[in-house]
Amino acid sequence: MKTLTELDCQYRPKWHYSAQRNWLNDPNGLVYSNGTYHLFYQHNPHGEEWGNMSWGHATSTDLQHWDEQPVAIACDEQEAIFSGSAVVDVHNTSGFGAGGVPPLVAIYTSAYSPASPLAGRQAQSLAYSTDDGATWTKYAGNPVLDRASADFRDPKVFWHDGAAGSYWVMVAVEAVHHEVVLYKSADLLTWEYLSTFGPANATGGVWECPDLFELPVDGDASNTRWVLVVNLSPGGIAGGSGGQYFIGTFDGVTFHSETTVTDGVQADDSRMADYGWLDWGRDYYAAVSFSNAPDGRRLMIGWMNNWQYAASTPSDGWRSAMSLVREVRLVCRGGRPVLVQEAVDPFHTHATEVFALDRQPLADGVTWLPAEASGDVLRIDAEFEPGAAGRVGLVLRAGSEPGGESADLAGARTVLAYDCRTAELSLDRTESGNVGFHESFPSVERVAVALEDGRLRLRVFLDRCSVEVFAQDGLATITDLVFPANSGTAVGLLAEGEGGTLAGLAVLA
Ligand code: FRU
Repeated sequence: MKTLTELDCQYRPKWHYSAQRNWLNDPNGLVYSNGTYHLFYQHNPHGEEWGNMSWGHATSTDLQHWDEQPVAIACDEQEAIFSGSAVVDVHNTSGFGAGGVPPLVAIYTSAYSPASPLAGRQAQSLAYSTDDGATWTKYAGNPVLDRASADFRDPKVFWHDGAAGSYWVMVAVEAVHHEVVLYKSADLLTWEYLSTFGPANATGGVWECPDLFELPVDGDASNTRWVLVVNLSPGGIAGGSGGQYFIGTFDGVTFHSETTVTDGVQADDSRMADYGWLDWGRDYYAAVSFSNAPDGRRLMIGWMNNWQYAASTPSDGWRSAMSLVREVRLVCRGGRPVLVQEAVDPFHTHATEVFALDRQPLADGVTWLPAEASGDVLRIDAEFEPGAAGRVGLVLRAGSEPGGESADLAGARTVLAYDCRTAELSLDRTESGNVGFHESFPSVERVAVALEDGRLRLRVFLDRCSVEVFAQDGLATITDLVFPANSGTAVGLLAEGEGGTLAGLAVLA
C-alpha cells in the first residue's frame, strides 16, 4: 500500500477535496451542523472507477480544509447508494432523534440491484445519524418514496415555511423525462406529490441533481426569488455535463420560472447560450447547496469533472476532486436578477501576495511574468482595459511539453483570453498538457462577457489539475481540468495588438 506522501502526487489538489484513495463523483448530503460542514459524496470505496456507489464523508470547519471520515452509508447486495441530501431534523419530525438531540437525516436514492425485489428501480430512502454524522443507520421502512420508476433520483430536501404551510419539500428528477418532481412531507417518512417542472431550456441529456432555494435580490429580504438548479448530462453548455438554473417563484407547491426561454424537449440547441448556466466550463457538475448553512449563506459545491471523460482522467490511486466551495447570490443586472458566485477563498487566509504589477500598457504578444509569479497553486487577480487591443488575457500553466526536460515556454499552456471583437471570454485547454487520454477532452470554452466601464476583472484559482475562473466579480465562471507537466508553472500576460492596458495584477501563493 502506498503512503500518503507518495499519494501526494503531481495532480493531487491542494485546495480541492479528493478522496485519499479511489473514485468520487457528486457531492451529496451537504449539511452544516454544530460548527461542522459535512461533505458526503458518491464514492467507490474499492476502486478508481465508478461502482459500488456509497456515500464517502469528509468534514470541515472552514470549508477549506477537509478531513476524510469513514464511509458513511455503504452499498450492499440489494442497493447502491446514489446521490441525495441531508437535513438537520431540528424538531425531530422523523422520530429518529434520541435524548432531545436532533438527528441528521440523509435522503438518498436506492438504486436497486438485480438481487433486490425492487430490481431496476430507483426510489428514495432514508438513513439517520444520532451522533452528529459519525455513524449512520438505514431506516427499516425504506424506500419512503417509490414511483416504480427506473430513473427517479437525486432528492434534495429542505424545510419550507410559507403561506401554504410548514413542511419538508423534496425536489428530485425523473431523469430521462427532463422533469423535476416536487413532494412534501410532515415527517420525512411519508410523501405527498406537489407538482412537476419541465422539460424546459436545456434538455440535451438526462436531468440530474436538482436543487431549489430562495435568495434575496441585492441583499433585500423583501425582494426574493427562488433558484431551481438542474444539472444535466450530456447537453451542458460546454459539452457533456453541465448545470443550468432557472430563476422564479415558489408558492410551496409549484415553481414558476421567469427565465424559461424554450418549453418542452429541444431538438434545436441554438438558444443554449440564452439559458442560465452555473458555469461555462466543462468541469462543474452535480452542483448542489448546503443545507442549514449559517448566516443565510447559500454555499454550493460541484464535482469537478465531466461524465464524457471522467473514467479516463489521469489517476494515481485516487480519481476526481470537488470544486472550491462557492457562495451564490442574486444581484440585479439590466433590470433582472442574475446569479453571481464567489469562491470561499483559501488564498485569502492561507497565502501571501508574491507578485504585483501596477497600471501599465500591454505589449503585443506574451509578456512572461518573473519566476516568483509562477506556480501550480496560485490565485491570480487581473484587471484589463482592452482598449484597442484585439485580445487580452493570461497564459497559464505554461512550460515544457509533457515528458519534456526543459521549461520550454513555447510548449504546453492554457490560455484565458478576452476577444474584444466578439466580447467573449474563452479558456483554451487544447494545448494544456496531457489532453490525449480522451478524444473529447481538448476543448475551448466560451462565455459572453460585457466589459464594465471598459474593464474586465478576472480572478483565477489554479490548483494542480484545475483552473477556475471568476469573471466580473463572479457574473460568469469557467471551470476546467488541466493536466500539465510538472514544469508547467509559468504565467504570462497576453495581448494581441497595441492599445490594451493592464489596470492591475496580483498573484497570491
Ligand atoms: C450524477 C449521477 C446521479 C446519480 C449519481 C450516481 O452525476 O448520475 O444522477 O445519483 O451520479 O453516482
